[in-house]
Amino acid sequence: MKGKVLTLLRENEHTFLSGEKISRELNCSRTAVWKQINSLRNEGFDIVATQNKGYQLIKGGRDLSEHNLISRIKGNGLFHKVVYYPSVSSTQTIANQLVNEGDSEGIVVVADEQTDGKGRLGRPWQSQKQSGISMSLVLKPDIDFRQAPQLTLVSAVAVTRALRERTGLSIDIKWPNDLLVNGKKLAGILTEMQVDPDRIQSVIIGIGINVNHDNFPDELTSIATSLKVESGEEFDRADLIGEILREFSWLYETYLSKGFSFIKPLWEAHSLSIGKVITARRARDSVEGEVIGINDEGVLLLKDNQGETHHIYSADIDIKS
Ligand code: BTN
Repeated sequence: MKGKVLTLLRENEHTFLSGEKISRELNCSRTAVWKQINSLRNEGFDIVATQNKGYQLIKGGRDLSEHNLISRIKGNGLFHKVVYYPSVSSTQTIANQLVNEGDSEGIVVVADEQTDGKGRLGRPWQSQKQSGISMSLVLKPDIDFRQAPQLTLVSAVAVTRALRERTGLSIDIKWPNDLLVNGKKLAGILTEMQVDPDRIQSVIIGIGINVNHDNFPDELTSIATSLKVESGEEFDRADLIGEILREFSWLYETYLSKGFSFIKPLWEAHSLSIGKVITARRARDSVEGEVIGINDEGVLLLKDNQGETHHIYSADIDIKS
């Protein structure tokens, strides 16, 4: 109910909405509306009330509460449910549980803090309270499981475009899943999937973004950054989440209908690696060479100094020049 009141106010952010109109829309009493307005005000929403005109939302709430987040996905064709936790071990774990319980595509799990955040290749991911974005998206794409890594690239493009749009910062993608600003890591993406013998049961896209961090522990200072460190500004995490989900939704639908060839140029437009000499450290060996691009499957193509092209499916990369 509170979420619905907030959604209506947000849809009419530039005008007043009478208590009567809200109560009619939501099929409840005006007193019930008034109670929800007060409760939203207690949460920090700036809502003015004028006797003859009604209510107007002056400034959207900046918190990560479920109803605030739900009001940001209104009209989003893909995402329809948000589950929020103030503190959780990992949003990936919760998303996996939801899938096992039979939940459908289009669920977003968001946490303010993760106590056991997971990074790629079994590494830990730090998610400190009131600073970052930690969320997992539940998808059930009808694609071959070998194509699932492409979704990491679709996600990287979506997050990059949304953050560039909202912050104006020059954010680039380091293959496959790191988002960097000025050479330091701003965000990471972890793609996990559950596979039946021949079909994908679900893909869970975990997105971690450093947003309002003022600084980082000593061991991370030289390699990590945040939107605030780079711009000097604080950002509304709920607004960023809404924009990322909007961007993700249309890119994902377009990817499913038109294929990866539509995503490839968008990914290349923000890629930091193309034309650079890199070392790709794989599980068993390392390859050095120049990045010549990605192929239509999203696999990184590396040309070594003998002119041989290597297909890199999974690796950590160091950019040399
Ligand atoms: C990486 O760069 O290694 C990937 C980091 C992914 C972190 C996100 S935060 C939300 C989701 N929950 C997790 O435990 N991990 C991902």
